[in-house]
Amino acid sequence: MNLGSQIHPISHDLDPSDRTPIRPGSEARAHFPYFRALGASGGGYLDSAATSQKPDHVLVALYNVLAFSNANVHRGAYELSARATDYYNQARGKVARFINADSPNNVVFVRGATEGINLVAYALEHTLKPGDTILLTLLEHHSNIVPWQMLAQRKGLKILFADITEDGRLDIDDFKKKVLEAKPKVVACTQLANSLGTITPIEDLVSLAKRSGAVVLVDGSQGACHLGIDVEKLGADFYVFSSHKIYGPTGVGVLYGTAEALSTLKPFQGGGDMISYVSVEGSGWAEIPQRFEAGTPSFPEAIALGAAIDFISRVDRKALQAHEHALMLEAEEILKGVPGAKVFGPGAQSGYQSAVVSFTVQGIHPHDLATIADEVGVQLRAGNHCAMPTLRRLGVPATARLSFGVYSTSQDLAKLSEALGRASALFK
Ligand code: ALA
Repeated sequence: MNLGSQIHPISHDLDPSDRTPIRPGSEARAHFPYFRALGASGGGYLDSAATSQKPDHVLVALYNVLAFSNANVHRGAYELSARATDYYNQARGKVARFINADSPNNVVFVRGATEGINLVAYALEHTLKPGDTILLTLLEHHSNIVPWQMLAQRKGLKILFADITEDGRLDIDDFKKKVLEAKPKVVACTQLANSLGTITPIEDLVSLAKRSGAVVLVDGSQGACHLGIDVEKLGADFYVFSSHKIYGPTGVGVLYGTAEALSTLKPFQGGGDMISYVSVEGSGWAEIPQRFEAGTPSFPEAIALGAAIDFISRVDRKALQAHEHALMLEAEEILKGVPGAKVFGPGAQSGYQSAVVSFTVQGIHPHDLATIADEVGVQLRAGNHCAMPTLRRLGVPATARLSFGVYSTSQDLAKLSEALGRASALFK
């Protein structure tokens, strides 16, 4: 595809009127320059949980905004700035519709899920007192642990972790017990664990935690892309996700908050755009969400995130889940044939796993597996996946991890199979 033909000085969208459904797999893959460049027999990419590849929609949106609609938002009394501001606001609206938020004002643009969690952990500090408890789970990414540990250190709080089962599911009884006994003031939990692909029964967890009076944050870094979310139905105070895992660019993410929850937060960073006035005596705060968006925002990236949402909204959610499920089953089948292979997590058939397969092969370090896979032309992640407590609980320092996206195909898994054969022969 010639991107030049898509460059448009007014509309930032690839083709805003095109809502033709896109089927996951090779049809979706054709929208990604990375895969087109590799060609029909080209490589596989099985590391979408780390970051996704970007479709034309996103690249064209980024280019068009930076080329033709680039002026600082909320500031200029001229058409170019008004246009950039308008696109930025439209992107906020797209995010709100995507997650079914009440209003675009419930959407704060941040740098990524990590910043969203740090923002909340900092900005609700004044509502907590020494001795209060925070409940996390052993499925969390480091980003949903460390900001809370830093908060706990500042305020003298206690942190508890709900346990997981041997097959990597959340131990619901332990979660329940800790909520009821410790009465945590804050509960933060993932919707879909990046290390194992475990799906948590998030609505039940949120409802339990809310009934016991906790402020609840849900990490949707993986879930927003693979499971989707209806924040109204979810009922959590906060929900965060990153653009770059959902086919958008890096540098932008979303913190959703209910109006009530956002209004209890103190500002996180001070600077331009988050104020209503500044005097030598002091300053007043802008309305929400601007209150939490100090400085020039990553508006081109936010607009491109809107384009990513346009793209992924053309893929039927059920078809995408079925596609990723079929790939998980196929990967498990391949691994069954590999001597010494062990798969971690609930398993594709359990209904509690999505888009990720984490495994080890006895006698071959996961890093060696990833290196050999790369030689064959397929990328996967090896290591602790920023989830050291999860892996430690399962008694393994590192795994190799396959993670799928809308463009993943059986061809990627054929390459994986070849890589596993080569590794087994090398390390025999
Ligand atoms: N959180 C990212 C991953 O799971 C980096 O790989």
